[in-house]
Amino acid sequence: MPANMALLTLPPLSLYIHIPWCVQKCPYCDFNSHQAEQKNNTLNELDYVETLKNDLQLESQFTYGRKLSSIFFGGGTPSIFSAHSIAAILDHAKKIIGFEDDIEITLEANPGTFEQEKFAGFYAAGVNRLSIGVQSFNEKHLQTLGRIHNSDEAKRAISIAKKAGFSNINIDIMHGLPQQSVDDAMKDLQQAIDCSPQHISWYQLTIEANTAFYRQPPTLPNDDILADIQERGSLLLTDNGFAQYEISAFSKNNQRSLHNLNYWQFGDYLGVGAGAHGKITDISNGRIIRRQKTRLPDHYLKNAKAPKTKQHTVATHELNIEFMMNALRLIEGVPSDFFEKRTGLALAEIQDSLTELQQQQLLAEASTHIKTTPLGQRFLNVVLEKLSAEEKINVDGLQTGKQ
Ligand SMILES: C[S@@+](CC[C@H](N)C(=O)[O-])C[C@H]1O[C@@H](n2cnc3c(N)ncnc32)[C@H](O)[C@@H]1O
Ligand code: SF4
Repeated sequence: MPANMALLTLPPLSLYIHIPWCVQKCPYCDFNSHQAEQKNNTLNELDYVETLKNDLQLESQFTYGRKLSSIFFGGGTPSIFSAHSIAAILDHAKKIIGFEDDIEITLEANPGTFEQEKFAGFYAAGVNRLSIGVQSFNEKHLQTLGRIHNSDEAKRAISIAKKAGFSNINIDIMHGLPQQSVDDAMKDLQQAIDCSPQHISWYQLTIEANTAFYRQPPTLPNDDILADIQERGSLLLTDNGFAQYEISAFSKNNQRSLHNLNYWQFGDYLGVGAGAHGKITDISNGRIIRRQKTRLPDHYLKNAKAPKTKQHTVATHELNIEFMMNALRLIEGVPSDFFEKRTGLALAEIQDSLTELQQQQLLAEASTHIKTTPLGQRFLNVVLEKLSAEEKINVDGLQTGKQ
């Protein structure tokens, strides 16, 4: 007997594949990424690919007849793997789950020479969107960030990606870097725009626990400079045809990241690879479950036949805020009926809070969508605190939406 009768429709299904190794660990990064060939984290590509395939087999029980609408190879540095390995993983996913005709397949790549040589191979393997981690075009800032590429290599990587056939390219740029001026940040953005990508992800640097920057904090720009960077940068992007559709995401001609959109619209995703998360609507039991793989690469590889996985049911009182934390990141919000369809909760239960936030002009008065006003975007923490009346949420988690 379904516990929640409202969960009768299934959202689109995505797949996240985590590759946990990098050539070198950056001092600001708290992702599950490990310098290859370090103790407990040996890069073992062949075994990892085999384990991923088994993992995928395990997760395929949660598709409930759906095909994949997007795949994202994230890291770490997925471009550290050979095109042959990426092709093997994709072939397996296609065989056991199946792809929608218009599937989006993204791979995160670093701009090193060694990676660029593989771009044509990734494209031939079926990857149709490349996300290139440039971060900055300024040599001094690249060094502070501990990056192993320089500005010319970043530009060359983008041009090689285009020659390889990619017509959907994202560039990651960070701002609010140590000692960065407003002009420095604008120059970085302008150079990214001049490379003519379809998408720019523009993240403000956050100092995360368990990083070298946390242990030895660099001097960051003050709040006034950060606010100026934010304001002038958004204008520069918009003036150049990049529409902002999420806190950090800007796209040209509506070429949004379908994979991230599915996260933000509270869709379903399977997660395979060390530390990967999945979120699934378990329609037969009327609940939403979250699954997570064991984090360390060597632990993940140890149980190669069935990698260690934790699972829990998302509590009803958490569903509301989990939905909102994702949906309200989107500038245009989400259709109101998604709330009931994707959480199984009745919108009426939070109507009083919604009305109050509308009266405070933090939420828009649109009857078709739940969305913030520009003021609500600025004070998203306040909006979420109101909506999570029974629950304290970690508002710091809002800064990055990446997995
Ligand atoms: C999974 S990470 C890295 C992908 C790829 N290995 C790279 O370094 O380019 C995805 C993106 O998150 C952003 N990022 C990582 N750490 C961050 C931090 N502390 N603050 C803001 N953005 C961060 C970077 O822009 C990065 O490209
Ligand atoms: S930012 Fe990218 S390259 Fe640097 S450690 Fe993190 S995942 Fe690896």
